[in-house]
Amino acid sequence: TKGNYRHFMLKEIFEQPITIGQTLATFLDEFGNPSKGFGKVEFSKYKRIYIVACGTAFYAGAVAKYWFEQVAGIPVEIDIASEFRYRKPVLEEEGLFIAISQSGETADTLAALRHAKGKGVETLALVNVTTSTMAREADIYLPINAGPEIGVASTKAFTSQLTALAAFALNMSEQKKFLDKEHLAKLVKALTEVPDIVGETLQLDGEIDKMCLGLSHAKSLFYLGRDMNYPIALEAALKLKEISYIHAEGYAAGELKHGPIALIEPGTPVIVLAGQDPLLEKTVSNLQEVASRGAKVFLVADKKGAEIVGDIAEQIITLPDCDPFTAPIITTIVIQLIAYHTAVHLGTDVDQPRNLAKSVTVE
Ligand code: M6R
Repeated sequence: TKGNYRHFMLKEIFEQPITIGQTLATFLDEFGNPSKGFGKVEFSKYKRIYIVACGTAFYAGAVAKYWFEQVAGIPVEIDIASEFRYRKPVLEEEGLFIAISQSGETADTLAALRHAKGKGVETLALVNVTTSTMAREADIYLPINAGPEIGVASTKAFTSQLTALAAFALNMSEQKKFLDKEHLAKLVKALTEVPDIVGETLQLDGEIDKMCLGLSHAKSLFYLGRDMNYPIALEAALKLKEISYIHAEGYAAGELKHGPIALIEPGTPVIVLAGQDPLLEKTVSNLQEVASRGAKVFLVADKKGAEIVGDIAEQIITLPDCDPFTAPIITTIVIQLIAYHTAVHLGTDVDQPRNLAKSVTVE
Protein backbone atom coordinates (compact mmCIF):
# COMPACT_ATOMS: atom_id res chain seq x y z
CA THR A 1 0.00 0.00 0.00
CA LYS A 2 0.91 3.66 -0.28
CA GLY A 3 0.51 4.17 3.45
CA ASN A 4 0.28 7.89 4.18
CA TYR A 5 1.88 8.82 0.90
CA ARG A 6 -0.05 10.33 -1.99
CA HIS A 7 1.78 8.23 -4.59
CA PHE A 8 3.88 5.07 -4.66
CA MET A 9 6.66 7.12 -6.20
CA LEU A 10 6.81 9.44 -3.17
CA LYS A 11 6.70 6.46 -0.80
CA GLU A 12 9.54 4.82 -2.69
CA ILE A 13 11.59 8.04 -2.67
CA PHE A 14 11.17 8.32 1.11
CA GLU A 15 11.96 4.62 1.65
CA GLN A 16 15.47 5.07 0.32
CA PRO A 17 17.35 5.35 3.63
CA ILE A 18 15.96 1.88 4.38
CA THR A 19 16.31 0.32 0.93
CA ILE A 20 19.89 1.58 0.52
CA GLY A 21 20.57 0.12 3.97
CA GLN A 22 19.20 -3.25 2.75
CA THR A 23 21.51 -3.15 -0.26
CA LEU A 24 24.49 -2.31 1.96
CA ALA A 25 23.62 -5.19 4.28
CA THR A 26 23.66 -7.47 1.23
CA PHE A 27 27.20 -6.50 0.23
CA LEU A 28 29.07 -5.30 3.32
CA ASP A 29 29.97 -7.78 6.07
CA GLU A 30 29.55 -7.07 9.79
CA PHE A 31 32.86 -5.20 9.78
CA GLY A 32 31.70 -3.03 6.90
CA ASN A 33 34.04 -4.73 4.44
CA PRO A 34 32.77 -5.09 0.87
CA SER A 35 33.39 -8.81 0.84
CA LYS A 36 29.90 -10.17 1.39
CA GLY A 37 27.31 -11.13 -1.18
CA PHE A 38 29.81 -11.62 -4.00
CA GLY A 39 30.21 -15.35 -3.38
CA LYS A 40 33.68 -16.58 -4.16
CA VAL A 41 33.93 -14.70 -7.40
CA GLU A 42 37.46 -13.67 -8.25
CA PHE A 43 36.81 -10.30 -9.79
CA SER A 44 40.53 -9.59 -10.12
CA LYS A 45 40.76 -11.98 -13.08
CA TYR A 46 38.70 -9.80 -15.40
CA LYS A 47 40.49 -7.43 -17.77
CA ARG A 48 37.50 -5.38 -18.85
CA ILE A 49 33.86 -4.79 -17.93
CA TYR A 50 30.97 -4.47 -20.37
CA ILE A 51 27.92 -2.85 -18.82
CA VAL A 52 24.62 -3.09 -20.68
CA ALA A 53 21.22 -1.74 -19.60
CA CYS A 54 18.25 0.43 -20.60
CA GLY A 55 16.82 3.70 -19.29
CA THR A 56 17.49 4.47 -15.65
CA ALA A 57 19.49 1.25 -15.18
CA PHE A 58 21.78 2.45 -17.99
CA TYR A 59 22.49 5.65 -16.07
CA ALA A 60 23.40 3.60 -12.98
CA GLY A 61 25.89 1.82 -15.22
CA ALA A 62 27.19 5.15 -16.52
CA VAL A 63 27.99 6.25 -12.94
CA ALA A 64 29.56 2.85 -12.23
CA LYS A 65 31.98 3.33 -15.12
CA TYR A 66 33.57 6.22 -13.18
CA TRP A 67 33.71 4.13 -10.00
CA PHE A 68 35.20 0.97 -11.53
CA GLU A 69 37.82 2.93 -13.44
CA GLN A 70 38.73 5.22 -10.53
CA VAL A 71 38.83 2.76 -7.64
CA ALA A 72 39.59 -0.55 -9.36
CA GLY A 73 41.53 0.59 -12.44
CA ILE A 74 39.55 -1.62 -14.81
CA PRO A 75 38.40 -0.32 -18.20
CA VAL A 76 34.62 -0.21 -18.61
CA GLU A 77 32.56 -0.06 -21.78
CA ILE A 78 28.92 0.81 -21.49
CA ASP A 79 26.16 0.25 -24.03
CA ILE A 80 22.46 0.85 -24.32
CA ALA A 81 21.08 -2.70 -24.57
CA SER A 82 19.16 -2.15 -27.80
CA GLU A 83 22.39 -1.08 -29.53
CA PHE A 84 24.76 -3.65 -28.06
CA ARG A 85 24.30 -6.74 -30.25
CA TYR A 86 23.80 -4.90 -33.47
CA ARG A 87 27.01 -2.93 -33.33
CA LYS A 88 28.85 -6.27 -33.33
CA PRO A 89 30.97 -5.49 -30.26
CA VAL A 90 34.43 -7.03 -30.04
CA LEU A 91 34.32 -8.88 -26.72
CA GLU A 92 37.34 -10.17 -24.83
CA GLU A 93 36.90 -13.57 -23.19
CA GLU A 94 38.60 -12.21 -20.06
CA GLY A 95 35.85 -9.62 -19.83
CA LEU A 96 32.89 -9.55 -17.48
CA PHE A 97 29.50 -8.66 -18.90
CA ILE A 98 27.16 -6.91 -16.42
CA ALA A 99 23.45 -6.54 -17.13
CA ILE A 100 21.71 -4.04 -14.86
CA SER A 101 17.93 -4.34 -14.63
CA GLN A 102 15.32 -3.67 -11.97
CA SER A 103 12.84 -6.18 -13.42
CA GLY A 104 15.35 -8.66 -14.82
CA GLU A 105 12.96 -9.05 -17.77
CA THR A 106 13.73 -6.13 -20.12
CA ALA A 107 13.84 -7.74 -23.56
CA ASP A 108 16.78 -5.76 -24.95
CA THR A 109 18.94 -6.31 -21.87
CA LEU A 110 18.11 -10.02 -21.79
CA ALA A 111 18.97 -10.40 -25.48
CA ALA A 112 22.29 -8.63 -24.87
CA LEU A 113 23.06 -10.97 -21.95
CA ARG A 114 22.34 -14.02 -24.13
CA HIS A 115 24.52 -12.56 -26.87
CA ALA A 116 27.48 -12.09 -24.49
CA LYS A 117 27.02 -15.58 -23.08
CA GLY A 118 26.99 -16.98 -26.59
CA LYS A 119 30.35 -15.30 -27.21
CA GLY A 120 31.88 -17.05 -24.21
CA VAL A 121 31.99 -14.02 -21.92
CA GLU A 122 31.06 -14.47 -18.26
CA THR A 123 27.81 -12.75 -17.41
CA LEU A 124 26.58 -11.11 -14.23
CA ALA A 125 23.05 -9.82 -13.64
CA LEU A 126 22.44 -7.06 -11.09
CA VAL A 127 18.68 -7.22 -10.64
CA ASN A 128 15.97 -6.43 -8.14
CA VAL A 129 13.42 -9.15 -8.96
CA THR A 130 15.00 -12.34 -7.67
CA THR A 131 12.74 -14.69 -9.66
CA SER A 132 13.49 -12.98 -12.98
CA THR A 133 14.83 -14.51 -16.18
CA MET A 134 18.12 -12.56 -15.99
CA ALA A 135 18.72 -13.75 -12.41
CA ARG A 136 18.28 -17.31 -13.67
CA GLU A 137 20.28 -17.10 -16.86
CA ALA A 138 23.35 -15.13 -15.83
CA ASP A 139 26.46 -16.97 -14.61
CA ILE A 140 26.59 -14.74 -11.54
CA TYR A 141 23.55 -13.09 -10.01
CA LEU A 142 23.64 -10.19 -7.56
CA PRO A 143 20.35 -9.07 -5.95
CA ILE A 144 20.03 -5.38 -5.03
CA ASN A 145 17.28 -6.07 -2.44
CA ALA A 146 15.42 -2.79 -2.88
CA GLY A 147 12.04 -4.50 -2.37
CA PRO A 148 9.18 -4.34 -4.89
CA GLU A 149 9.11 -1.11 -6.89
CA ILE A 150 5.59 -0.11 -7.98
CA GLY A 151 6.09 3.39 -9.44
CA VAL A 152 6.76 3.23 -13.17
CA ALA A 153 9.42 5.89 -12.69
CA SER A 154 12.29 4.03 -11.08
CA THR A 155 13.64 5.63 -7.88
CA LYS A 156 14.67 3.29 -5.07
CA ALA A 157 15.84 0.61 -7.51
CA PHE A 158 18.21 3.20 -9.05
CA THR A 159 19.82 4.18 -5.73
CA SER A 160 20.13 0.51 -4.78
CA GLN A 161 21.73 -0.25 -8.16
CA LEU A 162 24.19 2.58 -7.48
CA THR A 163 24.88 1.36 -3.94
CA ALA A 164 25.46 -2.22 -5.12
CA LEU A 165 27.73 -1.06 -7.93
CA ALA A 166 29.75 1.13 -5.54
CA ALA A 167 30.20 -1.86 -3.19
CA PHE A 168 31.10 -4.02 -6.18
CA ALA A 169 33.77 -1.54 -7.36
CA LEU A 170 35.21 -1.43 -3.83
CA ASN A 171 35.23 -5.23 -3.65
CA MET A 172 37.10 -5.40 -6.95
CA SER A 173 39.48 -2.69 -5.74
CA GLU A 174 40.20 -4.72 -2.60
CA GLN A 175 40.80 -7.92 -4.58
CA LYS A 176 43.15 -6.15 -6.96
CA LYS A 177 44.80 -4.16 -4.15
CA PHE A 178 44.35 -1.12 -6.35
CA LEU A 179 44.03 1.52 -3.59
CA ASP A 180 46.02 1.79 -0.40
CA LYS A 181 44.23 0.41 2.67
CA GLU A 182 43.41 3.79 4.24
CA HIS A 183 41.94 5.14 1.05
CA LEU A 184 39.79 2.05 0.57
CA ALA A 185 38.64 2.16 4.21
CA LYS A 186 37.65 5.82 3.78
CA LEU A 187 35.48 4.99 0.75
CA VAL A 188 33.84 2.02 2.49
CA LYS A 189 33.04 4.24 5.47
CA ALA A 190 31.58 6.87 3.14
CA LEU A 191 29.30 4.21 1.63
CA THR A 192 28.02 3.10 5.05
CA GLU A 193 27.07 6.73 5.80
CA VAL A 194 24.82 7.03 2.74
CA PRO A 195 21.48 5.99 4.37
CA ASP A 196 21.81 8.74 7.02
CA ILE A 197 22.82 11.39 4.49
CA VAL A 198 19.94 10.38 2.22
CA GLY A 199 17.67 10.87 5.25
CA GLU A 200 19.04 14.41 5.70
CA THR A 201 18.65 15.13 1.98
CA LEU A 202 14.97 14.14 2.13
CA GLN A 203 14.45 17.03 4.55
CA LEU A 204 14.98 19.38 1.60
CA ASP A 205 11.59 18.21 0.28
CA GLY A 206 9.62 21.38 1.14
CA GLU A 207 12.26 23.66 -0.35
CA ILE A 208 12.38 21.57 -3.54
CA ASP A 209 8.58 21.59 -3.81
CA LYS A 210 8.58 25.42 -3.79
CA MET A 211 11.20 25.52 -6.53
CA CYS A 212 9.09 23.15 -8.66
CA LEU A 213 6.08 25.47 -8.73
CA GLY A 214 8.12 27.76 -10.99
CA LEU A 215 9.55 24.89 -13.04
CA SER A 216 6.10 23.48 -13.81
CA HIS A 217 5.47 26.41 -16.20
CA ALA A 218 8.53 25.58 -18.31
CA LYS A 219 8.15 24.23 -21.86
CA SER A 220 11.68 22.89 -21.87
CA LEU A 221 14.58 22.74 -19.45
CA PHE A 222 18.17 21.62 -19.15
CA TYR A 223 20.18 19.72 -16.58
CA LEU A 224 23.95 20.17 -16.60
CA GLY A 225 26.68 18.30 -14.74
CA ARG A 226 30.32 17.28 -14.97
CA ASP A 227 32.02 14.03 -13.94
CA MET A 228 29.56 11.74 -12.12
CA ASN A 229 27.00 14.55 -12.10
CA TYR A 230 26.78 14.12 -15.86
CA PRO A 231 25.02 10.72 -15.83
CA ILE A 232 22.89 12.02 -12.96
CA ALA A 233 21.90 14.97 -15.20
CA LEU A 234 20.79 12.43 -17.83
CA GLU A 235 18.78 10.49 -15.24
CA ALA A 236 17.29 13.76 -13.94
CA ALA A 237 16.08 14.74 -17.41
CA LEU A 238 14.62 11.26 -18.03
CA LYS A 239 12.76 11.27 -14.72
CA LEU A 240 11.27 14.72 -15.39
CA LYS A 241 10.21 13.80 -18.94
CA GLU A 242 8.60 10.54 -17.83
CA ILE A 243 6.22 11.96 -15.27
CA SER A 244 5.82 15.71 -15.95
CA TYR A 245 5.98 15.53 -19.78
CA ILE A 246 8.17 18.65 -19.79
CA HIS A 247 10.83 18.45 -22.46
CA ALA A 248 14.13 18.05 -20.61
CA GLU A 249 17.70 17.42 -21.74
CA GLY A 250 20.69 16.41 -19.70
CA TYR A 251 24.12 17.55 -20.92
CA ALA A 252 27.71 17.33 -19.88
CA ALA A 253 28.23 20.94 -18.73
CA GLY A 254 31.18 21.47 -21.09
CA GLU A 255 29.18 20.28 -24.10
CA LEU A 256 26.48 22.94 -24.01
CA LYS A 257 28.47 25.51 -25.96
CA HIS A 258 28.91 23.00 -28.80
CA GLY A 259 25.31 23.39 -29.90
CA PRO A 260 22.49 23.21 -27.37
CA ILE A 261 23.24 26.68 -25.97
CA ALA A 262 21.39 27.94 -29.06
CA LEU A 263 18.18 26.82 -27.35
CA ILE A 264 18.69 28.96 -24.25
CA GLU A 265 16.23 31.86 -24.22
CA PRO A 266 15.48 34.38 -21.50
CA GLY A 267 13.70 32.40 -18.79
CA THR A 268 14.76 28.86 -19.87
CA PRO A 269 15.36 26.93 -16.65
CA VAL A 270 18.82 25.36 -16.36
CA ILE A 271 19.44 23.15 -13.34
CA VAL A 272 23.14 22.76 -12.61
CA LEU A 273 24.18 19.69 -10.60
CA ALA A 274 27.46 20.54 -8.91
CA GLY A 275 27.55 18.54 -5.66
CA GLN A 276 31.18 17.57 -4.86
CA ASP A 277 32.12 18.63 -8.38
CA PRO A 278 35.86 18.04 -8.91
CA LEU A 279 35.79 20.64 -11.71
CA LEU A 280 33.64 23.20 -9.94
CA GLU A 281 35.32 26.28 -11.46
CA LYS A 282 34.69 25.03 -14.97
CA THR A 283 31.07 24.21 -14.16
CA VAL A 284 30.63 27.71 -12.70
CA SER A 285 31.87 29.23 -15.93
CA ASN A 286 29.34 27.08 -17.88
CA LEU A 287 26.69 28.31 -15.51
CA GLN A 288 27.72 31.92 -16.22
CA GLU A 289 27.53 31.26 -19.97
CA VAL A 290 23.86 30.31 -19.72
CA ALA A 291 23.01 32.94 -17.10
CA SER A 292 24.35 35.69 -19.36
CA ARG A 293 21.92 34.49 -22.06
CA GLY A 294 19.01 34.95 -19.72
CA ALA A 295 18.62 31.39 -18.43
CA LYS A 296 17.03 30.97 -15.02
CA VAL A 297 19.74 29.05 -13.22
CA PHE A 298 19.00 26.67 -10.36
CA LEU A 299 21.94 25.17 -8.51
CA VAL A 300 22.14 21.87 -6.63
CA ALA A 301 25.49 21.91 -4.81
CA ASP A 302 27.36 21.39 -1.57
CA LYS A 303 28.12 24.38 0.69
CA LYS A 304 31.31 25.30 -1.15
CA GLY A 305 29.55 25.35 -4.53
CA ALA A 306 26.67 27.35 -3.09
CA GLU A 307 29.09 29.99 -1.73
CA ILE A 308 31.02 30.32 -4.98
CA VAL A 309 27.94 30.72 -7.17
CA GLY A 310 26.28 33.20 -4.83
CA ASP A 311 23.50 35.21 -6.43
CA ILE A 312 23.91 34.17 -10.07
CA ALA A 313 21.46 31.39 -9.25
CA GLU A 314 17.73 31.98 -8.92
CA GLN A 315 17.63 29.34 -6.17
CA ILE A 316 20.20 27.06 -4.57
CA ILE A 317 19.50 23.65 -3.08
CA THR A 318 22.35 22.99 -0.66
CA LEU A 319 23.21 19.32 -0.21
CA PRO A 320 24.45 17.86 3.07
CA ASP A 321 28.18 17.10 3.13
CA CYS A 322 29.32 13.76 1.78
CA ASP A 323 32.34 12.11 0.20
CA PRO A 324 32.70 12.80 -3.56
CA PHE A 325 32.56 9.00 -4.06
CA THR A 326 28.96 8.77 -2.87
CA ALA A 327 27.77 12.20 -4.07
CA PRO A 328 25.86 10.86 -7.11
CA ILE A 329 23.57 8.87 -4.79
CA ILE A 330 22.86 11.95 -2.67
CA THR A 331 22.20 14.24 -5.66
CA THR A 332 19.80 11.64 -7.07
CA ILE A 333 17.40 12.21 -4.16
CA VAL A 334 17.05 15.87 -5.16
CA ILE A 335 16.43 15.20 -8.84
CA GLN A 336 13.80 12.57 -7.98
CA LEU A 337 11.97 15.08 -5.78
CA ILE A 338 12.20 17.74 -8.51
CA ALA A 339 10.55 15.37 -11.02
CA TYR A 340 7.92 14.31 -8.51
CA HIS A 341 6.84 17.76 -7.31
CA THR A 342 6.88 19.29 -10.79
CA ALA A 343 4.58 16.49 -12.00
CA VAL A 344 2.27 16.90 -8.99
CA HIS A 345 1.99 20.67 -9.68
CA LEU A 346 0.99 19.78 -13.24
CA GLY A 347 -1.54 17.18 -12.07
CA THR A 348 -0.21 14.23 -14.06
CA ASP A 349 -0.66 10.57 -13.13
CA VAL A 350 2.68 10.15 -11.38
CA ASP A 351 2.54 6.39 -10.77
CA GLN A 352 1.14 5.49 -14.20
CA PRO A 353 2.60 7.97 -16.67
CA ARG A 354 1.19 7.94 -20.20
CA ASN A 355 2.63 5.52 -22.77
CA LEU A 356 4.95 3.82 -20.26
CA ALA A 357 5.03 0.29 -18.83
CA LYS A 358 6.93 -0.80 -15.73
CA SER A 359 8.73 -3.49 -17.63
CA VAL A 360 9.50 -3.37 -21.37
CA THR A 361 9.39 -6.95 -22.61
CA VAL A 362 9.46 -6.22 -26.35
CA GLU A 363 12.50 -5.19 -28.36
O1 M6R B 1 13.61 -3.21 -15.44
P1 M6R B 1 14.75 -2.46 -16.05
O2 M6R B 1 15.65 -1.85 -15.04
O3 M6R B 1 15.53 -3.30 -17.03
O4 M6R B 1 14.09 -1.29 -16.88
C1 M6R B 1 14.86 -0.44 -17.66
C2 M6R B 1 14.09 0.77 -18.10
O5 M6R B 1 12.96 0.39 -18.86
C3 M6R B 1 13.61 1.60 -16.89
O6 M6R B 1 14.68 1.99 -16.09
C4 M6R B 1 12.86 2.84 -17.38
O7 M6R B 1 13.73 3.73 -18.02
C5 M6R B 1 12.15 3.50 -16.19
N1 M6R B 1 10.81 3.86 -16.55
C6 M6R B 1 12.88 4.69 -15.67
O8 M6R B 1 12.20 5.41 -14.69
